[in-house]
Amino acid sequence: MKKELVIVLDFGGQYNQLVARRVRECNVYCEIYSYKMGIETIKSMKPKGIILTGGPSSCYEERAATYPKELFELGIPILGLCYGAQLMMHELGGKVERAAVREYGKTEVLIDKTDSKVFQDVQEKTVCWMSHFDYISQAAPGFEVTAHTADCPTAAAENEAQKLYAIQFHPEVLHTKEGTKMINNFVKNVCRCAGEWKMDAFVENSIREIRTKVGSGKVLCALSGGVDSSVAAVMLSKAIGKQLTCVFVDHGLLRKNEGDEVEAVFGPEGPYDLNFVRVNAQDRFYTKLAGVEEPEAKRKIIGEEFIRVFEEEAKKIGAVDFLVQGTIYPDVVESGLGGESAVIKSHHNVGGLPDYVDFKEIIEPLRDLFKDEVRKAGLEMGIPEKLVFRQPFPGPGLGIRIIGEITAEKVKIVQDADAIYREEMDAAGMKEIVGQYFAALTNMRSVGVMGDERTYDYAVALRAVNTIDFMTAEAAEVPYAVLNKVMSRIINEVRGVNRVMYDLTSKPPGTIEFE
Ligand code: XMP
Repeated sequence: MKKELVIVLDFGGQYNQLVARRVRECNVYCEIYSYKMGIETIKSMKPKGIILTGGPSSCYEERAATYPKELFELGIPILGLCYGAQLMMHELGGKVERAAVREYGKTEVLIDKTDSKVFQDVQEKTVCWMSHFDYISQAAPGFEVTAHTADCPTAAAENEAQKLYAIQFHPEVLHTKEGTKMINNFVKNVCRCAGEWKMDAFVENSIREIRTKVGSGKVLCALSGGVDSSVAAVMLSKAIGKQLTCVFVDHGLLRKNEGDEVEAVFGPEGPYDLNFVRVNAQDRFYTKLAGVEEPEAKRKIIGEEFIRVFEEEAKKIGAVDFLVQGTIYPDVVESGLGGESAVIKSHHNVGGLPDYVDFKEIIEPLRDLFKDEVRKAGLEMGIPEKLVFRQPFPGPGLGIRIIGEITAEKVKIVQDADAIYREEMDAAGMKEIVGQYFAALTNMRSVGVMGDERTYDYAVALRAVNTIDFMTAEAAEVPYAVLNKVMSRIINEVRGVNRVMYDLTSKPPGTIEFE
């Protein structure tokens, strides 16, 4: 199934995962690798095409991220984007120089070669996303300039015979109006990919592969109720049924009714064939957390207690052959195992194998998928939409949405307030517009008046953010009427709250969560 492969060579730019996602949207399988990958490895993978990404280097500098010229002589179609385009020109005898001004943002681009294979069906005048200091002052010999902007004489160039294409802007970014079309043109018209990589085939194949790999073995899965572990669990259950045991630890810091919702789907009454173990460990967690106020200490306690509970359950089950992990492709890339850009960040999901469970091997059925693809796979397998489109929810749960000490009373307050907030936001159609929203409980109590009585109660903070990658975020513009209704309902329906606030802070300087 992975026969039609396009490789993204990552030079450290910020949009590299987007490039791979766009290619996959064209139903062509695509993987990201560091530019340091050797040419022999590339050849052995037999890619149908290669895309060189943007990156922070200047290709004329000595220590620039580069690739030997042989890459361009393989006969494999290559598309260079931004830095990738400059590198292609530089290596092949063109000229790249520092521009007088940085070209940044939405820019009008004029297509000079309308019959270019990559610009098929693209308007002559279109909008692109530019972000560069250097520019191609002279295209390499054999190349034809195919597009320009007011500030950029070579916005695109190509050597059609050699199947080499250079684009100075970023077609992978949605601000480039016809960017997806350009990428689709490259993979279909130039690389000649048929585009047969589809989710139903992926799911079917994965199920078959899991069945072969597991044989008659036993498999253990820690189910959190989040999208990734749920989709992984369903895939496993479809492959091996009762050979799978899912352990779901309810640490008492889940959203309102969430434990029961997870049980309804995965428990004995649900549609799936598997062994489901729910551990109601609320009291254990509350006891451990009593009196603890410091955020990192809370996280640590929750993390450690979780392991302990899971370990106890695993012991009851005994030795297993496989342990399931819900690792997804961005985790792999961000751990530096795939691309280049995020070697800076190590991710908790990858690499660190839990040593507290007696198992032989890890199974990561979603390792090749982006988040939206995981969701598609989930829908494909008939998992309820409510679960598939669940917002991100941190492992330590409400523990990091309650400032200060965690108590059962505070958990109840934030659960109830959060449920009202989400209900109203969903009813107002904000689900499709806003990335993540939740209520948090501040540790502030203040004086209020309710009926004729003085109150001294907590303040709830409402958070709603728009974000693409969760690294940066902006507070969402939630309509005042919605906020007002939420405020009024929370005050009326949730005991212990007498103030509701909306958090306007972006990230940075804030974070999305409160702790
Ligand atoms: P922050 O608060 O760092 O959150 O801006 C960024 C995104 O990550 C989620 N998040 C976590 N997820 N364990 C998780 O699994 C955690 O400890 C954790 N902390 C934050 C958060 O919900 C947001 O989507």
